[in-house]
Amino acid sequence: MCGIVGYIGPRDATPIILSGLQRLEYRGYDSAGIAVLQGGEIAIRRDVGKLSNLMQLVSTEPLNGRIGIGHTRWATHGVPSPHNAHPHISRNGRTVVVHNGIVENFRELRAELEAAGVRFASETDTEVIVHLVQRERDAGHALTEAVRRAVRYLRGAHAIVVLSADDPDRLVAVRIGNAGGVALGLGDGEMFIASDIPAILEHTRRMVFLESRQMATVTRDAYHVQTLDGEPVDAEVHTIAWDPVSAARGEFKHFMQKEIHEQARALTDTLRGRIDFHDGCVVLPDLTITPEHARRLKRIVTVACGTSAYSGLVGKFILEDLTRIPVEVDYGSEYRYRNPILDEDCAVLAITQSGETVDTLAAMEEAREKGATLWSIVNVLGSQAMRVADGYITMQAGPEIGVASTKAFTTSIVDQYLLALYLGQQRGTLSCEQSQAHAEDLARLPDLVGQVLEREAAVEALAAETYHYTNFLYLGRGINYPIALEGALKLKEISYIHAEGYPAGEMKHGPIALIDEHMPVVAIALQDAVYEKMLSQIEQAKSRGGRVIAIATDGDTLIAEKADHVLYVPPVSPLLSPVVSVIPLQLLAYHIAVWRGADVDQPRNLAKSVTVE
Ligand code: AGP
Repeated sequence: MCGIVGYIGPRDATPIILSGLQRLEYRGYDSAGIAVLQGGEIAIRRDVGKLSNLMQLVSTEPLNGRIGIGHTRWATHGVPSPHNAHPHISRNGRTVVVHNGIVENFRELRAELEAAGVRFASETDTEVIVHLVQRERDAGHALTEAVRRAVRYLRGAHAIVVLSADDPDRLVAVRIGNAGGVALGLGDGEMFIASDIPAILEHTRRMVFLESRQMATVTRDAYHVQTLDGEPVDAEVHTIAWDPVSAARGEFKHFMQKEIHEQARALTDTLRGRIDFHDGCVVLPDLTITPEHARRLKRIVTVACGTSAYSGLVGKFILEDLTRIPVEVDYGSEYRYRNPILDEDCAVLAITQSGETVDTLAAMEEAREKGATLWSIVNVLGSQAMRVADGYITMQAGPEIGVASTKAFTTSIVDQYLLALYLGQQRGTLSCEQSQAHAEDLARLPDLVGQVLEREAAVEALAAETYHYTNFLYLGRGINYPIALEGALKLKEISYIHAEGYPAGEMKHGPIALIDEHMPVVAIALQDAVYEKMLSQIEQAKSRGGRVIAIATDGDTLIAEKADHVLYVPPVSPLLSPVVSVIPLQLLAYHIAVWRGADVDQPRNLAKSVTVE
């Protein structure tokens, strides 16, 4: 995840910015940079690799200024390199920008700017932002207004900070959607800007958090918040009373809630550097396979446990649809004793957030002994499942602290989508051009997830009405059947309520006998190929007195006539719909557990990583 730090005040900006970026290192990055106003000019230092490389560069080529911005970057568009690292500067050297997020429409914006004579110095999407701002400055607009007008052209979710040599007394920050936060730190004669609280907590505990579609103009003694429509905002000032550990929780009560809300940004990072959103080509730097080997693949076996196994069940739909390779999914704890049938034309894919789950590792060992190609999807870098595999894909979700897995689930689904596109391209059954539509669906996903996260209040209200129940039933069909399993697991593992996920079509073969007014039924009924079937399922549950909670598509008024409660999600492509439909279920489980006073981050009897049988 990218990190942003800005400073304006009487002190030397460089050490403040660099130490702030160090506190954001846990997010992971592959390059870093800093820009400081020095003698009326903007001076920039950027380097690839660890922050220590940038610090080394700054020590040999010092910076000296009282206002500046810094950034740690996960490569998205353009390889990790000094010229692709942020900050990015306008052609006339007067304006500089750092950015989190993806400019989904950067290709057309770049083409338009190039046609107007702008020469780009990088392959990044971010660089279009600084040229758009400069264009508005050249049109005579003051900095704040120029930024406000420039960001109107951007599609996607963004966090942006702008510094201008022509306005040495201010920084301008913008937040659109959920590409990471923008916190203003209020000092005494100095101000700070950061993408996360830990970066600036040592300097001040008084903070203002921008909400989506808000921007701030910050001088050393004051700040002004407004909407992107120019309406002034009376933003609340928070006093952060946390110790460092809880500072890592940010403005959230639990790590689980924070990690649920990090998913929009985490998904952006999962995509970074792997898919070209323009031509659709996928590269997986740590998992390569020759076209000949890809064509030889006859079967994929996914092995995992718990939530990761449910991610594999979703991935089966994606991988089979895009590669036409048969996919089996098995629990690690079962697979390891099955004496499985494998050979060199099979690939075994282990999905494991921790990379240390003993049953999954044992299944990997079984696969290794039988000569299969061994891949893993992991979140913890350096974990055993990463090291023993022939190739791996990292989730790039950032640390997942809450025992209940959330952002690892959604990012591992997207990793499987990337793997499917990559295998299709290597097998020659899916061209980059055919992949462009998929790339567009993936580029939109973080923003769609962010939209659902903004609807948390409705889920919390529903939790307040339902947390007293002792049994729940979750129903889904097709690619959303695994989401019924995952929704039920989330609820039972943190609230201790019995919950069961079931394929909706199977209800009539017995479980429907369970339904009555004491058993809420959660039905995932998006407007997809199985929508009509789910509607009839809801009617059957209602006719037996069941209380139905539907997960439905925005604008679906029919379902509101049938279900007792509806949690809406925006329309999404069918293969990515589980990433969106799971969010309300994560939030429902979380808020029910909070209402029940459960220990959300460390539920009884559970460990974050099950390293023993
Ligand atoms: C999920 O919320 C649980 N914490 C658990 O099922 C977990 O997914 C499972 O133990 C697998 O963990 P892993 O992804 O680290 O292998």
